Amino acid sequence: MDPDDEVCLCFRVSLRKIRTFLAVQNPPVASLISECLSAGTGCMWCVPFLKHLHAQHMRGEMPDLKVSPEQYAQSRLKYHQTDERDAEMLRKASGSEAEMPPESLSTKKPPDRAGG
Ligand code: FES
Repeated sequence: MDPDDEVCLCFRVSLRKIRTFLAVQNPPVASLISECLSAGTGCMWCVPFLKHLHAQHMRGEMPDLKVSPEQYAQSRLKYHQTDERDAEMLRKASGSEAEMPPESLSTKKPPDRAGG
């Protein structure tokens, strides 16, 4: 991604804004990135990606996503249609399989267990 590409598409928060927020605020937990123009508080699509950016920042790396903005937006559209994340997209964007715990890949709701 380029710095001007948007990571949180709901609130149009660019990678550059998130990088600046991380550098200036140095938030101890990824969820505090929501204070950066409400990133991650809309459809929640970008949350695993925000976590990845935060993890990179904590390791002293330049936060980045290894995915084109077109692929990223396309994958988000699919997420809205199916309510499931494309695990491959997360792996590709992070450049690492190990970093994304399996539970962060799935947003599928657990089956209802009403009754018995
Ligand atoms: S893309 Fe960030 S909350 Fe929807």
